[in-house]
Amino acid sequence: MTGRRLVVNVDHVATVRQARGGVEPDPVAAAVQALAAGADGIVVHLREDRRHIQDRDVRLLRQVVHRLFCLEMAATGEMLEIALQVRPDSVTLVPERREELTTEGGLDVLAGLEEIGGAVRSLEDSGIRSCLFIDPDLDQVEASLRSGARAVELHSGEYARAGSDRGGSRRALEQAAKRAAKLGLEVGVGHGLDYRNVSEIAALPEIEEFSIGHAIVAHSLTVGFGRAVREMRQIVCPH
Ligand code: PXP
Repeated sequence: MTGRRLVVNVDHVATVRQARGGVEPDPVAAAVQALAAGADGIVVHLREDRRHIQDRDVRLLRQVVHRLFCLEMAATGEMLEIALQVRPDSVTLVPERREELTTEGGLDVLAGLEEIGGAVRSLEDSGIRSCLFIDPDLDQVEASLRSGARAVELHSGEYARAGSDRGGSRRALEQAAKRAAKLGLEVGVGHGLDYRNVSEIAALPEIEEFSIGHAIVAHSLTVGFGRAVREMRQIVCPH
């Protein structure tokens, strides 16, 4: 895969739906809108606890997303079975803990090389691109290569959290991106990127893929909320 890409994560559209246990808003409809707006792909995280994205979403997204469809998941037997059935274009393996609010750290590929390598092999053998979500750490980059994975997604959470003091974490992302690209791995980045902090990362030429969700969903509320209120008031108070 080559060329710069924005892959939009629609998990938090599903978070709003699950808050009422109904059918709206639908992350599949959001995905269609994102693609119409120019997104290069769609990504969702099917969590073990199904707190936002549901199995039905993954199946429908596979049918409607005709650009890149990426599935984020833990390297468990259950998830691998789903991935091999649904056949997304790409799978990003992430660590997952039930009690976390969101993915908190990268995979420890060094410690879990055998298990992760096994998951990578079953994905690649079925023609699914394998990507590992790792911290921007050179040892993890090298272990990712050894696992047989085709790509890494560098965790930008620390960079995002560091606010104006982010020079060090930006350099870590830059060094990890350069090393990964030199080793022949495809390089992506994701987590916590927003409209203010993304430009400095977008300036790194080695990074091909940006995986962004929360900031886009949050911004859509800001830019769309006024209109939604005006339309409702017009119905409730027509005169
Ligand atoms: N990449 C990975 C591996 C993630 O787990 C997440 C969060 O679901 C993202 C990217 C997107 O992060 P954000 O929602 O903060 O843009």
